[in-house]
Amino acid sequence: MIKIDGITSQEAMLLEDRYGAHNYHPLPVVLSRGEGVYMWNPEGKRYYDFLSAYSAVNQGHCHPRIISALTEQAQRLTLTSRAFYNDQLGPFEKFMSELFGYDKIMPMNTGVEAVETALKLCRKWAYEVKGIPEHQAKIIFVEHNFHGRTLSVISASSDPSSYKGYGPYMTGFQVIPYNNLNALEKALEDPNVAGFLVEPIQGEAGVVVPEEGFLAKAHALCKSKHVLFIADEVQTGLARTGRMLACDYEGVRPDMVILGKALSGGVFPVSAVLADDEIMLTIKPGEHGSTFGGNPLACAVAKAAMEVLVEEKLAENAFEMGKIFRARMQAIIAKRPDLVTLVRGKGLLNAIVINDTEDSKTAWNICVQLAENGLLAKPTHGNIIRFAPPLVMTEEQLRDCCDIIEHVLINFKA
Ligand SMILES: Cc1ncc(COP(=O)(O)O)c(C=O)c1O
Repeated sequence: MIKIDGITSQEAMLLEDRYGAHNYHPLPVVLSRGEGVYMWNPEGKRYYDFLSAYSAVNQGHCHPRIISALTEQAQRLTLTSRAFYNDQLGPFEKFMSELFGYDKIMPMNTGVEAVETALKLCRKWAYEVKGIPEHQAKIIFVEHNFHGRTLSVISASSDPSSYKGYGPYMTGFQVIPYNNLNALEKALEDPNVAGFLVEPIQGEAGVVVPEEGFLAKAHALCKSKHVLFIADEVQTGLARTGRMLACDYEGVRPDMVILGKALSGGVFPVSAVLADDEIMLTIKPGEHGSTFGGNPLACAVAKAAMEVLVEEKLAENAFEMGKIFRARMQAIIAKRPDLVTLVRGKGLLNAIVINDTEDSKTAWNICVQLAENGLLAKPTHGNIIRFAPPLVMTEEQLRDCCDIIEHVLINFKA
């Protein structure tokens, strides 16, 4: 193998396998450089990124404006902790609160930390505002949810690979079917319900899009019962689905919005919760926090990342590119209905469903062939392949990608 610099792909894979925990099963592709919609392996092979680090790299790899914010701020001040004020946090908080129309924002780091923060805010609000008796608050989740990997959120997971072997589990959670208003209405009969946590489109579950109107009706049901509607937009948010938030499609203003991933353009972990004062101010000084949450480097990077989303009109681009993408996939399905049964999604968060069992290797083998042909995607839940390229993709690049996918699917032999 030709070695351009550093280690070879083979060496990198051997090292990860030997010295790293085996909690992931990556495709056999090593990446050492990224720019826009492209990534390269150490030997110089170029790939289209069709995963965007699970929708974290919406702005494209190493966006010059975000990297410039990173390097400038990195040379001035990186971390103060929240023991003191810093000169980047306030401007970032103002920018975000005004952009999304909420009183306040609470910055964190990873997506799951922001989810935990929202759950804590919901419980505090339940006791201090709604008046639910101490320790009685309930939060409703839905089946096939994915909110991250902490003990509390896996306690509400319906996926054994997420929860099995990690008990005992957190109490106070109830899981109902997704996209099921009757189940929600029934669950809301309990006066101790404080919140309903939902992904507007279920990303990890395989880009499962609820029926049109579900979010608006679920939001109205929650409102009628004085229950917080909490949208986990860690994957769907920040222009990915063709709107700034996926909830925007139905004119829903959640009581809490959870953001992560693309909030830093994939540069490093930045997440946040948005809410109004009635909710946000229930947590008092010393009652919740994070050493790194709201650090000046994160704020400078996240502000630049958000400006890129808005100024480059990436939601609009995702909306238009998504239409072209799904139309092309439909045409492929017409040619290979034996192999692909469905394409679904919104904007540039899409998936195809492979006509095989969940435990089959078909989707994996297709992804390996896509990689060999220069396009990186990954199966989710066995027989589903998620397609989520950076939102800076041009129509010409997208058509090139669709050609690659078509070539692989049309010629695929099980
Ligand atoms: C909807 C949703 N919530 C939360 C998370 C967790 O984010 P993180 O991996 O940054 O903790 C994810 C990650 O995929 C997600 O898709």
